[in-house]
Amino acid sequence: MPKDNVNERIVSATPVEDDASFELKLRPQRLQEFIGQTKVKENLAVAVEAARSRGEALDHVLLYGPPGLGKTTLATIIANELGVAFQQTSGPALQIKGDLTAILTNVRNKQVLFIDEVHRMQMALEELLYSALEDYKLDIIIGQGPAARTHTIDVAPFTFIGATTRAGLLSAPLRSRFGIVLRLEFYTHEDLKIIVERSAEILGVAIDHAGALEIASRARGTPRIANRLLRRVRDYAQVRSGGKIDLTTAQAALAMLEVDKHGFDEIDRKLLLTIIQKYQGGPVGLNTLAAVLAEEPDAIEEIYEPFLIQIGFLNRTPRGRTVTHLAYEHFNIKPGQAQNQLF
Ligand SMILES: Nc1ncnc2c1ncn2[C@@H]1O[C@H](COP(=O)(O)OP(=O)(O)OP(=O)(O)O)[C@@H](O)[C@H]1O
Ligand SMILES: [Mg+2]
Repeated sequence: MPKDNVNERIVSATPVEDDASFELKLRPQRLQEFIGQTKVKENLAVAVEAARSRGEALDHVLLYGPPGLGKTTLATIIANELGVAFQQTSGPALQIKGDLTAILTNVRNKQVLFIDEVHRMQMALEELLYSALEDYKLDIIIGQGPAARTHTIDVAPFTFIGATTRAGLLSAPLRSRFGIVLRLEFYTHEDLKIIVERSAEILGVAIDHAGALEIASRARGTPRIANRLLRRVRDYAQVRSGGKIDLTTAQAALAMLEVDKHGFDEIDRKLLLTIIQKYQGGPVGLNTLAAVLAEEPDAIEEIYEPFLIQIGFLNRTPRGRTVTHLAYEHFNIKPGQAQNQLF
């Protein structure tokens, strides 16, 4: 694999192979251990408490936001806080109606059914889900052709949790069936620092505040990336500095890994450089940008742009996207000098 790709993967927000086992170990189990996202936590704490005291199933929950911010983690936490069973599947894993029917006819009272990537569910299955979500009823068609009959069966009251990185792709009828809709935001450096320190403790790694903050500040606002960087910096510290992570070690390790100051990934860089080099800093329309980057417009809008906007590198204006002076400074390009460079 080319060297570039190896390093791009370090700052990718989507999981890479060796993330899975670590994530299990580092995943908070209770709401109290879940760091940051104050508004989301508050909303959930109230809703869970109310459902528990009424002895009812919690309202259906939609969790959305860019990858690696804690959607799956929160879904498991909700089940833990409710003290109910947790069952997980994903939109693409459900192939035929029978897959979903089997799950729904077996749900237990008040349990959590978590469907990840819910925007990728097939329409026919989604429609099957509607009445189950609304009245806890399921229409099953038995037989074929003129002899086919519809049976309506009861489903135990349950809590449906859907997660998606692409809320814009959800159909309106599905979206309207979620009583609680929560958007996860990118984390502040301070919150990520606490996450890094918590993970270091679980992994038995010695780290000081400055070292943790350095890793946090290059993690692209994303806990998954923060944890991954911690693991790589730990390797470096073990080999080069007796295992302890301080500011100097963290900086040296991150420089070796070629993780830049903001932890930009390939698409972040490409998006900013395209606007600078091809469109003189903008404005450029979303669809044009999407075509040039060979990405879907809503992926740009929902996954890539929010981070760049949050850190002040990109603006959405009525006439299109523009980059700010911070973007020019980051790439060491002077406005007006950008045209026709290759990247
Ligand atoms: N608030 C948090 N506090 C501590 N750790 C967190 C928090 N949020 C996420 N993490 C860590 O980040 C990892 C990734 O989170 P998670 O898998 O829940 O993200 P996700 O939003 O479901 O991502 P995807 O969109 O790829 O499914 C978790 O294993 C957990 O260790
Ligand atoms: Mg997930």
